[in-house]
Amino acid sequence: MEQTPQTPITKIPIPPNGEYIRREHITLEEISQEAGLNLGTIDAETRGRLRLLHEKTATLKDERHAILLVKQFIENYEKNAEKKSFTIEEQRTVFLGTLLSDIGKTGPHGAPLPVQKCIAEMYGIDIDLEPPAEIMTVQEFLGKFFLDDAKRRLGLLSLVKVTPEMTMREFFKLHAKWTWSILKHAIGIPRDALVAAATHHVLEGVDPVGILEVENTENHKKPRLKLSRAAKLVILLDKYDAARSRGKLNHKDAIARLRSTISRNLRSAPDGEFAQLITDMEIVFTDNTLYDKAALE
Ligand SMILES: [Fe+2]
Ligand SMILES: [Fe+2]
Repeated sequence: MEQTPQTPITKIPIPPNGEYIRREHITLEEISQEAGLNLGTIDAETRGRLRLLHEKTATLKDERHAILLVKQFIENYEKNAEKKSFTIEEQRTVFLGTLLSDIGKTGPHGAPLPVQKCIAEMYGIDIDLEPPAEIMTVQEFLGKFFLDDAKRRLGLLSLVKVTPEMTMREFFKLHAKWTWSILKHAIGIPRDALVAAATHHVLEGVDPVGILEVENTENHKKPRLKLSRAAKLVILLDKYDAARSRGKLNHKDAIARLRSTISRNLRSAPDGEFAQLITDMEIVFTDNTLYDKAALE
């Protein structure tokens, strides 16, 4: 088994020119440990993907926020006699589901390493696009951010069926499907956690390879939204964190956005558990200072 070094989280000092570095330096080992995952217990391919993801994008640092939040959430349920505590299995599902949800930002299972790198680097461009992702094509994106070798990159992307004409929104949406394809082959990841990871954009209509039907034991023809409480929490945390860290919303507005996302997307299938989880998040995260601190790190 791999021994992971125990380096403490070090805050990067604010540079004298007044510009601040928002994100602290933190290793993959530290983030995984926080999510209860010993990297030595999973297969080399999955571990390599996580390493690449952490090297090229800020994704895992975001997931760490969500993991820190969920700890607070779970503790709160434990202390509250009226709440059904999260079992060890549920906790593991939430932690691992959160940690692994965006592993597909390194491309699909079976993609050669140069393709994985190319895709991770594209996801690493972490700014609002102009024109927006709904309009900008993959070709335009590469021409803008990777002008020197856009042609080589288009060639690599064609190996995994990403076309030059595809919009960036379509490209970005692929990652949940790719997460599923990678984790299906992973060793050492419980099935509930990989389902939770791969369904994290299901409210946006991204349902990789009919996971919801797979989950549907009663054999309904139409996929039903049948998710565990843990998987729902993974979805909500991802959105809450995105609203707070990227959207720069305050707690109240982030919760309001969650509510509107849920009611917009689940109009035909109102879900009491989602609503309850949001209400609890609203209470538990009220005095959370994580994002105030993160803003200065
Ligand atoms: Fe995602
Ligand atoms: Fe995410």
